[in-house]
Amino acid sequence: MQKKFVTINNKVENFNKKINIDGDKSLSIRWALLASQAIGISKAKNLLKSDDVQNTLNCLKKLGVKIVQKNNLCTIEGRGLNGFIYKNNLTLNAGNSGTLGRLILSLLIKSPYKIKIIGDKSLSKRDFSRVIEPLKKIGINFYPPQKSKLPIYIKGSNYLRPINYFENRGSAQCKTCIMLASLNVPGITKIKAKVSRDHTEKMFRSLNVPLKIKKTDKYDYITVSRPNFIKKIDFNIPGDISSAAFFIVLTLLSKNSKLTIKNININSSRIGVIKILNKMGAKIQLKNFKIMNGERCSDIKVKSIKNLKGINCPVSLNSAAIDEFLIIFLVAAKSKGISYFKDLSELNQKESPRLTIAAKILKMMGVRLKYDSSSIKIYGNPNLKLSKNIIIKNFLKDHRVFMMSVIAALSFGGKWKIFDPDSIKTSFPSFFLKIKEIGAKIK
Ligand code: S3P
Repeated sequence: MQKKFVTINNKVENFNKKINIDGDKSLSIRWALLASQAIGISKAKNLLKSDDVQNTLNCLKKLGVKIVQKNNLCTIEGRGLNGFIYKNNLTLNAGNSGTLGRLILSLLIKSPYKIKIIGDKSLSKRDFSRVIEPLKKIGINFYPPQKSKLPIYIKGSNYLRPINYFENRGSAQCKTCIMLASLNVPGITKIKAKVSRDHTEKMFRSLNVPLKIKKTDKYDYITVSRPNFIKKIDFNIPGDISSAAFFIVLTLLSKNSKLTIKNININSSRIGVIKILNKMGAKIQLKNFKIMNGERCSDIKVKSIKNLKGINCPVSLNSAAIDEFLIIFLVAAKSKGISYFKDLSELNQKESPRLTIAAKILKMMGVRLKYDSSSIKIYGNPNLKLSKNIIIKNFLKDHRVFMMSVIAALSFGGKWKIFDPDSIKTSFPSFFLKIKEIGAKIK
């Protein structure tokens, strides 16, 4: 039987370790989707073996794509652009993944049949109008027409037109959805996008998709012309900074500890967490740089820090740290002074309403704070130590809320009972293994 909760009664003892982290989720999902559209057999090493990625592969298999997974190698036999085998009454399950749920729509825009897209309880609460509306402008049909949440049906069209799309949330999912759609849309698709992670742009570049990007401080102006075909794409997927972040923070908040995390993707649109933590007094170092498929990678070196200080977090870093704020808030709780994070309404649009849930957990921990629907002010306490009982339950099985709670328990003490350990399978299946590797105890 699956375990319903874990209990943690002890802080982690000092450690000095080198660890590897599971493959990057954004890159794994994008690689699989693009490989399905390519001509030839694409290979990926170190593809993330998580539920979100497995759901991606399952959706592609249902669309006729041949996929072989053996040990650490995954191969995908591409079917070419719009080469899916469409069938009547097809249902695709995106599980917990907003990225998969939104991006898969963009590859179905020529389907002659209605395809049903479903997701789990958390995904079914999330807004899909942000991708449905621009896709409708391209000429794609959705049923029921006014619905903005899963389950929903999509039906493609042979009469697609390129659009001018303005992405103003800083959402890479929305931007990528339209970029992937443009692979099957005639003419030139134009996108003005608030800066967000740019993995899709980098993959398009390495695949020679006709792409132009003009960068300004706040916006990227992207144009994509439909390619005739895309070639296969081999990828050695580096570790995920969003998963590494939990161990970076555990090291910072523990006593006399050091950690090296090997080969992590440090794309500049993803390292907001490092910039923010360094501004708070951490001395995180990047060593052994490599470039893989246009993505910058390095080892990350971090050590415990006694004098962390609060931050008035620049909103320009929000998108580059969007999945790491939960764990950053724990650092703010232990820092000297007040930390202020603002313009973060998107955090409540994630797998769970993360800003609200984080505020509740911090309050349970006795942290002083003020928050509203888009900002949080945390009054840090460098002497924060817990001895009380804390139960974390009913948070929509959000993987990052679960892992944040585990790190809080191992950093601040107290007696914790944290529900839904299975949630880690969404993004970071080896989380417990890594916890064990650094010597922490969880029951
Ligand atoms: C992702 C983009 C982000 C992030 C998500 C992965 C991606 O979402 O939160 O975990 O791979 O493009 P938004 O684009 O909705 O901000």
